[in-house]
Amino acid sequence: MFSENRRRFLRQAASAGVACSASTLLGSFASAQTPSPAADMARIYLDSRRRIAPLDRNLFGSFLEHLGRAIYEGIYDPGSKLSDANGFRKDVMDEVRQLGVPIIRYPGGNFVSSYNWLDGVGPKQDRPHVLDKAWNALNTNQIGTNEFMTWCKAVGTEPLMGLNLGTGSAEDAAALVEYCNLEKGTKWSDLRRKHGVAEPYRVKRWCLGNEMDGPWQVGHMTATEYGLKAEDAARQMHAIDPSLQLIACGSSGPGMPTYLEWDREVLEQCYDYVDALSLHRYIGNTQEETGTDSAKFVAMNLSMEQQIKETLAVCDLVQGHKRSPKKLWLSFDEWNVWYRARTGDALRGHGEEAPHLLEEVYNLEDALLVGGILNTLMRNADRVKLACLAQLVNVIAPIMTNANGMLKQSIYYPYSWALQFAHGSVLNLLVESPTYEVSGMGQVPYLDAVATANAESGKTTLFILNRDLSKAHAVEVNWQDKAPGKVLMSTTITGSDLKAFNTFESPQRVAPQAFDKPATTGGRTKFEVPARSYTVIQWGT
Ligand code: AHR
Repeated sequence: MFSENRRRFLRQAASAGVACSASTLLGSFASAQTPSPAADMARIYLDSRRRIAPLDRNLFGSFLEHLGRAIYEGIYDPGSKLSDANGFRKDVMDEVRQLGVPIIRYPGGNFVSSYNWLDGVGPKQDRPHVLDKAWNALNTNQIGTNEFMTWCKAVGTEPLMGLNLGTGSAEDAAALVEYCNLEKGTKWSDLRRKHGVAEPYRVKRWCLGNEMDGPWQVGHMTATEYGLKAEDAARQMHAIDPSLQLIACGSSGPGMPTYLEWDREVLEQCYDYVDALSLHRYIGNTQEETGTDSAKFVAMNLSMEQQIKETLAVCDLVQGHKRSPKKLWLSFDEWNVWYRARTGDALRGHGEEAPHLLEEVYNLEDALLVGGILNTLMRNADRVKLACLAQLVNVIAPIMTNANGMLKQSIYYPYSWALQFAHGSVLNLLVESPTYEVSGMGQVPYLDAVATANAESGKTTLFILNRDLSKAHAVEVNWQDKAPGKVLMSTTITGSDLKAFNTFESPQRVAPQAFDKPATTGGRTKFEVPARSYTVIQWGT
């Protein structure tokens, strides 16, 4: 029977309709009562046999665009004492390699929609200096497809190539596939060989354009026009390499007037020719989005969860229309917090080389939300197979560079923990958490938890966001199938000031803190997560 106490809790099952449907599940019930101390305890029921899906490592991808100082001064700085013979920043390469970023989207973003890939190949001294229309910056084209592939190999990542479906034709897109993936004996594969690259790269995953629903996009068009163009490009690309995985452009955010209708119409045109649909989302603690209420801001990953569900509903609707046996997966290929460096000169390059654009400074509350977003992505691992933290270096990024070194911004930490500790399968947890009222969202659980279990290594990892900005919360993990082994690691990110951020002068203001390894007795592990925190605990067998 449902006791009164029990009704106060949100049953946050990790599958469909999780936390953002808190109000649907509990209505106003949850808010009406003051929880007793016992009811304040959050409970997590964990059973390693109850799984959502195997975790695709590509869920923790990232993004590098020819934008601001992401490429030039970010990964490539030939004049720097920190660079290697190719001009690549060694410190950045070491960091990305060590992080283990599985896949990186390139070369854009908005940039790609007026990029001619031919400007970026061949002898460097012959490459044109081009004024990029998206960011009004000067691109010297010293980094192009071949250099990016070399860098990817050096850092151990896979390229996710973006195609120009704005000013570029379907034929141009297919030509780049031929340049990258065919061995020899054709116009474009032989051009690559002439450029000194004998072996094809065999790039597997491609984005068919970028945010083509946006009026800001060069070559913006209607959903029908884009869907037809994407279909044409996909057919031509598959003729060259049938093994490609193709991602069509979905809506660039739920705020778009054409949200979901764009997705439906695009898929009506090209469903049979693509494997996935993209989603993008940037969240800001702004008057418009959250009323600058940090308690709402740290719940916004639930709005992304809603976006995922809605987009999947459209994919599956079109699957039904097409009577297709194929189910699409989602590529959340741009996501992050971004709102401060989003106006005026933060967006305009004034015709300069490597201008300082979109250099967002991240604070503690941003790191908490990024942790929550990673939880959301993991909870949806059955259908979201790829996602890119946008971006990686200098531009809305976890890593910043200057002439002397690198800085880890606050958001670096939750991202690096997902990369390091989330392995195996995502578990379908049952989470009972006290809740709080958020305007426009109903009852939101204070605790947002997700776990992964790796059958091979025997490691289980729990990721917990505590959205309570003023109080620590007691947590009890109930191990339903088997008790865990010893705690291998535990860490947290927290602090007294939600607005604290790191700088080159004070790089440790927002950094991981020690978290006591909790003990397990009688199949239960009890601990307390601090107010305003994102915590990771990993157990062995
Ligand atoms: O990541 C920054 C920009 O945001 C990208 O170029 C574009 O795709 C999105 O609007």
